[in-house]
Amino acid sequence: MIVIKLGGSVITDKDVEKTLLPDVLAGLAGSIAALDEPVAIVHGAGSFGHKVAKATGVGSGPHVPERDAAVARISADVRELNLHVINALADAGLKPVSIPPSSVCVASDGGIKTFSGEAAERWSRQGMTPVTFGDVVADEAMGVSIISGDQLMMEFARSLDARLAVFVADVDGVFDRPPAEEDAILLTEVSPETAVSFGEVESDVTGALRGKLEWMFRMAEAGIETWIVNGHAPERLADLVADGSTVGTRIVSGGQ
Ligand code: IPE
Repeated sequence: MIVIKLGGSVITDKDVEKTLLPDVLAGLAGSIAALDEPVAIVHGAGSFGHKVAKATGVGSGPHVPERDAAVARISADVRELNLHVINALADAGLKPVSIPPSSVCVASDGGIKTFSGEAAERWSRQGMTPVTFGDVVADEAMGVSIISGDQLMMEFARSLDARLAVFVADVDGVFDRPPAEEDAILLTEVSPETAVSFGEVESDVTGALRGKLEWMFRMAEAGIETWIVNGHAPERLADLVADGSTVGTRIVSGGQ
């Protein structure tokens, strides 16, 4: 079992509100469908969620009723993206089923408190492909939280007993300094001890790469083989699954 996160910045244009990149999505769906192993998919929000969340403050601090309409907007927008992903996966020959976090998950203080993995597990056992996504979730302490796809990767991996977790990004992996800088070097392996200069990146509601890495380290610590690969070179996903390595960054836990 492989859990794969399609980053929002790969399948959408992050700078233009609610803009899907259909060709990139179709390419990835084709590569995933060609894998010789069961998969479960998590996807991010990209421009279907992040922009409204940032502009309205949803997910940062205790919820106030003035933000209710924005919560509903984000909920609708991420579902719209989810439908695009579901359709692309089905067109590629998979049998996807949507598992919306707002229905199977409750948060506490911004983290997942409960996640019911039973539906995903049963669907998967029946040969279907569970698909979940970064979403707005009811939070017992804050009222509303935004749960990232990165957090949900851990829940899917646990529920489905995954051997491999792949985070599909719009870059080759983690670089020793911002990838746009001259002489930036791709790090083939990153642990919590690795020195990485993230530069002045504009943060989004779920913490950009620095925040995402925290979740990846937790997965590596739980014994799951964890990688970041570039979604614009979909053959790397196939290489990783078949050979156990490819161009990308392997995430390892501390002290390895
Ligand atoms: C964000 O999920 C969820 C919302 C903003 C509702 P992610 O943090 O996993 O999304 P990407 O991959 O960064 O776009």
